[in-house]
Amino acid sequence: MTKRAVVKGLGTYAPPRILNNHDLERLVDTNDEWIVTRTGIRERHIAAPEETTADMAEKASRLALQEAGITGDDLDFIIVATNTPDTLFPSTAARLQARLADRPVGGVDLQAGCTGLIYAIEMASAMIQSGSYQRILVVGADKLSSITDYQDRTTAVLFGDAAGALVLEGHEDTEFGVLGSYLKADGRGGDLLSLPAGGSRLPASAATVEEGLHYLKMNGNETFRFAVKAMPEAVEEGLKRVGLTVEDMDLLVPHQANLRIIDAAVRRFNLDPDRVAINIERYGNTSVGTIPLALEDARREGRVHRGSVVVLVAFGAGLTWGSTIIRWGY
Ligand SMILES: CC(C)(COP(=O)(O)OP(=O)(O)OC[C@H]1O[C@@H](n2cnc3c(N)ncnc32)[C@H](O)[C@@H]1OP(=O)(O)O)[C@@H](O)C(=O)NCCC(=O)NCCS
Repeated sequence: MTKRAVVKGLGTYAPPRILNNHDLERLVDTNDEWIVTRTGIRERHIAAPEETTADMAEKASRLALQEAGITGDDLDFIIVATNTPDTLFPSTAARLQARLADRPVGGVDLQAGCTGLIYAIEMASAMIQSGSYQRILVVGADKLSSITDYQDRTTAVLFGDAAGALVLEGHEDTEFGVLGSYLKADGRGGDLLSLPAGGSRLPASAATVEEGLHYLKMNGNETFRFAVKAMPEAVEEGLKRVGLTVEDMDLLVPHQANLRIIDAAVRRFNLDPDRVAINIERYGNTSVGTIPLALEDARREGRVHRGSVVVLVAFGAGLTWGSTIIRWGY
């Protein structure tokens, strides 16, 4: 009998504080009209100074566990996709285990830029298929405001904070669940999007802080060019791997980095608006948080049904890109 990972629960969290485009006009030389036309973003949610990635991950995870009807003690493993862990170590996954479960549970952080959640779903799915794990909590959580330079107008307008979580569970001989995925990384483009200091390459020092190297750096134009190629490639190749085509796709849930990048994919595939999940205007780019937030909104709008073929697709630092294809329900 073959096992497949089905989605038993989905939960999301965005902090209550909202930073809108007019608030940003007071911080940097920008304006609402530029931000809306060039990115599609109107507002983003920003965590409180003391609120961490693990705090947001916990809130989303509790909702996902509740929907799945299980507790943290029922989990076999936790994967937290994040680019802004509470600390480099201990892992955010271990921190989360301590909050959710009374007994030890395997756990690991995964870093693959904004594609991290797609990677995490595939790894959890493969672990479940192997038969060694039955229930895995997959979390995407990022506090990008902690690495954003609010004096740099090219990045300050883009990012926000959020978390999303999925409970994956092994079911035997089912047509539902994670059907397959397409994952790629190409480090030759690594400098397009990076956090220069704080690692072994450039340990944090007074000089790195002075130069602002503890903030995210981005080449926006080149990243844009990469994204408009990578997203359609990942959609097509992911679907091909599971024997499906764009026509079979009921809902595309793209990483929300820039509305123009999403629109390019929509035009390429000639998709009706009801087949694409878009909520970038309210959250901005929350990295690994964007896909669960958009999926949850689409679900609330009644656009995700039992049997729906849902394609999650993302790109990000690394460079990384990829997709995963899920037949929703169980
Ligand atoms: C960053 C991004 C929005 C910039 O949009 P763009 O249309 O490429 O704009 P450009 O960088 O060419 O800049 C155009 C002009 O707007 C200016 N500008 C840049 N940011 C601005 C802002 N926030 N407000 C006002 N003007 C701004 C530039 O200085 C430039 O002015 P100039 O023509 O006088 O030199 C866009 O490139 C993008 O979204 N890239 C992908 C980023 C991404 O996805 N990152 C996350 C990956 S997970």
